[in-house]
Amino acid sequence: MQKSSTIEYPVTALIQNRKSIRAFSAAPIEGEKIFSLFEATRWAPSSANEQPWVYIYATRDQETLWNKLFECLDEGNKIWTKDAPLLIASLARKHFTRYSSANAHAMYDLGGANSFLSLQAVELGLQVRQMAGFDMAKAVTNLQVPDSFEVGVFLAVGYPGDPTSLPEKLKLRELAPRERFLQQEFVMNRTF
Ligand SMILES: Cc1cc2nc3c(=O)[nH]c(=O)nc-3n(C[C@H](O)[C@H](O)[C@H](O)COP(=O)(O)O)c2cc1C
Repeated sequence: MQKSSTIEYPVTALIQNRKSIRAFSAAPIEGEKIFSLFEATRWAPSSANEQPWVYIYATRDQETLWNKLFECLDEGNKIWTKDAPLLIASLARKHFTRYSSANAHAMYDLGGANSFLSLQAVELGLQVRQMAGFDMAKAVTNLQVPDSFEVGVFLAVGYPGDPTSLPEKLKLRELAPRERFLQQEFVMNRTF
């Protein structure tokens, strides 16, 4: 599969400038900006306009709740999130609120909302790194997640920090060029 590190066709600046960083500044995020991040998710599209996403967040100074979130993360993620000024757990409601049936697209919709949040972050000078590397059982316990919800990913958010402050292995990964498949590998103007 062919890859390249360059943007091949024009895309909006928010997409160009988004990057899942690991080196976060310890600087706190203004409260208004935190609300703007979640406001962006309000306006994401969803199946039947169900808006099945739910977020639990804590700022670094909210030690008890921040630690409840932090404890859920895999050891590899704890290394670089330990100073993240904002941690978020994103969850999806599994059933439609208006019908008893399961919402097969709830997790899809949550992913879309998280993308909106991530792009809004760039607009605010922030960056987001999403994490699937967490302990699901721990998350259910620590966050008292009811059966009707499923945890999607955790998100670390903050202003960009100094990549050279990361441990050597992570520093190299942080500074490595970001590669993407070429469109010809996944876009088809034909059937399979
Ligand atoms: C669903 C999902 C799960 C991810 N899980 C992790 C994770 O547990 N740890 C981590 O360091 N990065 C994680 N990432 C970040 C990806 O590694 C990153 O998005 C990818 O390398 C592309 O880099 P970019 O976002 O800067 O373009 C995750 C991203 C997504 C969307």
